[in-house]
Amino acid sequence: MSSTERKVILISGVPGTGKTTIAKALVKRLDAQYVSIADLVVKYRLYTEYDKERLCYVVDTKKLRHFLKNIITSSSKTLVLDTHVVEGVPADLIDVVIILRTRPDILEKRLIEKGYSRKKVLENVQAEILASCTCEALSIFDKNKIFEIDTSSTDVNSVIENILNIIRGEGSQYRIGKIDWLSLMERDERLMRFLREDVNEGSSE
Ligand SMILES: Nc1ncnc2c1ncn2[C@@H]1O[C@H](COP(=O)(O)OP(=O)(O)OP(=O)(O)O)[C@@H](O)[C@H]1O
Ligand SMILES: [Mg+2]
Repeated sequence: MSSTERKVILISGVPGTGKTTIAKALVKRLDAQYVSIADLVVKYRLYTEYDKERLCYVVDTKKLRHFLKNIITSSSKTLVLDTHVVEGVPADLIDVVIILRTRPDILEKRLIEKGYSRKKVLENVQAEILASCTCEALSIFDKNKIFEIDTSSTDVNSVIENILNIIRGEGSQYRIGKIDWLSLMERDERLMRFLREDVNEGSSE
């Protein structure tokens, strides 16, 4: 991967791992174009229905894939795509997939700050512990395109530097599988509470 050519970079991760913060900082650094997939889905009605229970739109993956293909092929700039869900992304047009990861207790704090209910905090922290976004990415993208970066420290600049290294082809230390919260939890008993607490005990919001 040469560092000078135009790239299509996808940033994913569970809510609160810093997708929007990092994608926007990366866009500034690379003079790139920012694309929020969630915003596109709402603005251009790329959904089949609104899920009243989960309070979110159900993405029409066929429409989204077609829409993103048009954006990617008609832009000459580097693109930074910000998305929680990777279904409906045209995998062959993406050069690099960055999954942001955050230590469970730090993610919990960030989600509480975002005003999430206990149920939503737990659901998302448990999804992070089980690396759900990495698993989802693996079902769509070539493994060699996927990298994981830990955003538990507040140092946004160093996350950006890590991503720039990956784009330059120097990303071997960010290959998937190195971030393992389950092993950390075995060593730090306090983190086990996230798996013991029952998601359904919280409120329904
Ligand atoms: N290293 C870091 N990288 C990114 N964000 C960080 C970092 N350290 C602390 N933060 C903070 O964590 C929060 C991340 O929120 P942000 O909205 O960027 O996440 P998100 O993944 O886009 O969430 P959502 O899926 O809800 O849109 C911000 O308040 C940001 O300032
Ligand atoms: Mg966001």
